[in-house]
Amino acid sequence: MDTPIYDFLRRYNGADMARFHMPGHKGRPFLGCEPLDITEVHGADALYEADGIIAQSEANATALFGSRRTLYSTEGSSQCIRAMLYLALTCRPSGTAPFIVAARNVHKAFVYAAALLDFEVVWLWPEESSSLCACPVSPENLEKTLAALPAPPAAVYLTSPDYLGGMADIATLAKICHAHGTVLAVDNAHGAYLRFLSPSRHPLDLGADLCCDSAHKTLPVLTGGAYLHIGKCAPAAMAERAKSALALFGSTSPSYLTMASLDLCNRYLAEDYPTRLAETVQRLFALRETLTARGWRVEDSDPLRLTIAAPAGFPGTALADRLRQSGVECEYADRDFLVLMVTPENTPADFDRLLAALGENRTPYTLPMSLPLAQGKRAWSIREALFAPQETVPAEKALGRVCGAPTVACPPAIPIAVSGEVIGPEALALFRYYGVETVDVLK
Ligand SMILES: Cc1ncc(COP(=O)(O)O)c(C=O)c1O
Repeated sequence: MDTPIYDFLRRYNGADMARFHMPGHKGRPFLGCEPLDITEVHGADALYEADGIIAQSEANATALFGSRRTLYSTEGSSQCIRAMLYLALTCRPSGTAPFIVAARNVHKAFVYAAALLDFEVVWLWPEESSSLCACPVSPENLEKTLAALPAPPAAVYLTSPDYLGGMADIATLAKICHAHGTVLAVDNAHGAYLRFLSPSRHPLDLGADLCCDSAHKTLPVLTGGAYLHIGKCAPAAMAERAKSALALFGSTSPSYLTMASLDLCNRYLAEDYPTRLAETVQRLFALRETLTARGWRVEDSDPLRLTIAAPAGFPGTALADRLRQSGVECEYADRDFLVLMVTPENTPADFDRLLAALGENRTPYTLPMSLPLAQGKRAWSIREALFAPQETVPAEKALGRVCGAPTVACPPAIPIAVSGEVIGPEALALFRYYGVETVDVLK
């Protein structure tokens, strides 16, 4: 597969041009990567008006993902989420109303999009939850929610995989959305690689209409590189307007380094990646079995993730410290879980180090406790609240106040209380549980 952006950058750098253009480093190495970091010079195309090398590279990505259209973002899934919701609202199927039904474990980019686009949200709550990160949505719950609405929403929005690796039954949920005349949009930030499993488990292949993937999270792509995918069955207008949707929320100076990285990744994916991915999935499967035999409770998760439950009295954060001392850094840890993300770029030596650092677990487990999410009463719209004057107060003093900004630690950047909601005792308990010390509330 060709790599037109990367090739152009190499050629341009090799041509030894006197750079009387941005960026100000003029290609001199400070970090080391500057020689390949350019702007929209002659021949370099332009991300939001692409008809040259960037359009060719995006066409390669479109072919690889089997989508109607795949577009690059250099500002992560965060930019794609805003664009996706803009498309869902502006190109919504006839008969739908301009609001979104969303599973509550949204990334905060969703809340920002709700403020910018001023849409209402009907939340899907889990029947049972053991973490802020998880919000399993059953087909019955979705069916019941959609059936009870006066009109179908512009879209149903799910996060899958979630931060712990929980995966929704996209195929069934997509069918329910379509039967109700609406579309399914999926935050697949953690699942770009799912397309390359055999069979594919990528949301687009399971029936989603819109989907975003953070290429940088699970593929060898520089931070910020992401895809916005429009599915083959999505309304045609969504594909036509996708570029302008991304432009609405993006910088006018998108990073060529990140674009070149996405471009190179196309070749990586087209070569022996599926085989290497399958081998890594197998290796991780074996590692899970070893850890289980050594007394660890390993949670079900997407295939490239290792989610370990914390034993009683031994928080995930303490486990993360233990690993750090042995030269292993995890992706995420809270009281209940430790999350590690794996790709084919992890070496067998990485796996050995991890196993040695974890050792045997002799601390018993208690039954997983249920952690109800906070269903705060909505007093203001998300937009009204996020744009209103706010003050920061200690979390303990927030009871009864209206949430201003979705105060959350990042990762996982999943709001406990959403802007405009009255902070009740459940939210207070969750602030305490997740160590949130201050909250932005309306003045
Ligand atoms: C579930 C989820 N969605 C969206 C995002 C935002 O992705 P990005 O960092 O690519 O903007 C994240 C970031 O961690 C995430 O975990």
